[in-house]
Amino acid sequence: MLRLVAHRLGPPGEVLSVEPADLPQPEPSGVVVRMLSSAINPSDRLTISGAYPHRTALPFIPGYEGVGIVEATGREVHGLHAGQRVLPLGSAGGWQTFKGSPGRWCVPVPDDLTDDQAATAYINPLTARLMLRAIAPAPGASIGINAAASAIGRMLVRMVHAAGARPVAIVRSSRARALLEDEPVAEVVFDGTALPLLDAGLDAVGGASGTALAAAVKPGGPFLHYGLLSGEPLPPGLQRQSSAAVQLFWLRAWVHAASREQLCEAMAEVFGDIRSGLVRTTVEARYPLEEFRRALAHDASPHRSGKVLLTLV
Ligand SMILES: NC(=O)c1ccc[n+]([C@@H]2O[C@H](COP(=O)([O-])OP(=O)(O)OC[C@H]3O[C@@H](n4cnc5c(N)ncnc54)[C@H](OP(=O)(O)O)[C@@H]3O)[C@@H](O)[C@H]2O)c1
Repeated sequence: MLRLVAHRLGPPGEVLSVEPADLPQPEPSGVVVRMLSSAINPSDRLTISGAYPHRTALPFIPGYEGVGIVEATGREVHGLHAGQRVLPLGSAGGWQTFKGSPGRWCVPVPDDLTDDQAATAYINPLTARLMLRAIAPAPGASIGINAAASAIGRMLVRMVHAAGARPVAIVRSSRARALLEDEPVAEVVFDGTALPLLDAGLDAVGGASGTALAAAVKPGGPFLHYGLLSGEPLPPGLQRQSSAAVQLFWLRAWVHAASREQLCEAMAEVFGDIRSGLVRTTVEARYPLEEFRRALAHDASPHRSGKVLLTLV
């Protein structure tokens, strides 16, 4: 049993170390999952770096997204059994070989999905699907999406297009624009240039890009702020001052408020999105847990265009 542990918060490559640990025993209502593969996501890096110190207990084992096989179940767990492939959602801890998880947050994975698809099925695909539900785009509506070439940006582009609306992709570089070449974008606009009038905006960037996007959304149109790629917050007061309907979207808040039925239902929709090709996560590299520093450096590379996974078997 090995795990990646942070005993203090700070730069992930500096504060994490690989440690041996005892095999966890399942809680009465919990399961122990033998992890196969876990993704590295911006939310992992942010948490390790100390962005949410009030809710990050130390020592901290990162990894919000990954797939594994049920190893053992607690006596109160029904509907899950040893040998079943599951996504243990709703908590960190995927960057270790065995993760203890409440049974209610373990979602069985259909057999036809690959381990790569399963390991990346949660954070971005579910967020994209829920945000699409929230903005409910009308046919022909123009939807602004910044960081449009990011993993979630590309999913949003396809979902908006599939809903009959017009994805307006906002990018910051020609490299990002090239990554969108095969995607169904209606229009590509560079950050810092004039945006068309939009029916809704989806902001993963914050700062100047998010502020400009909010200003382009028509009065009363939804503007969902869900990421801080620039590291700069939106101006305080934007929520009050903007004529758009500004809201924050955090997957964590949705998942923690959802019932098991709602969670499984939403994940069933996501599995359908994966099968239909609306959700296609490119996996660019896989590294064993022991090589986590190389994995983190690859993930931080400006040339990366797909997800980096940690393999745990
Ligand atoms: N709120 C939630 O619950 C939730 C859920 C899922 C994801 N998210 C957020 O969604 C964002 C994207 O996640 P992801 O997994 O799709 O990321 P990703 O695939 O790792 O892609 C990030 C890409 O965004 C671009 N980027 C970085 N900084 C930027 C900036 N300042 N302005 C514009 N583009 C920038 C970079 O591409 P280029 O270098 O090519 O521009 C980078 O490759 C993250 O902020 C993440 O936290 C939030």
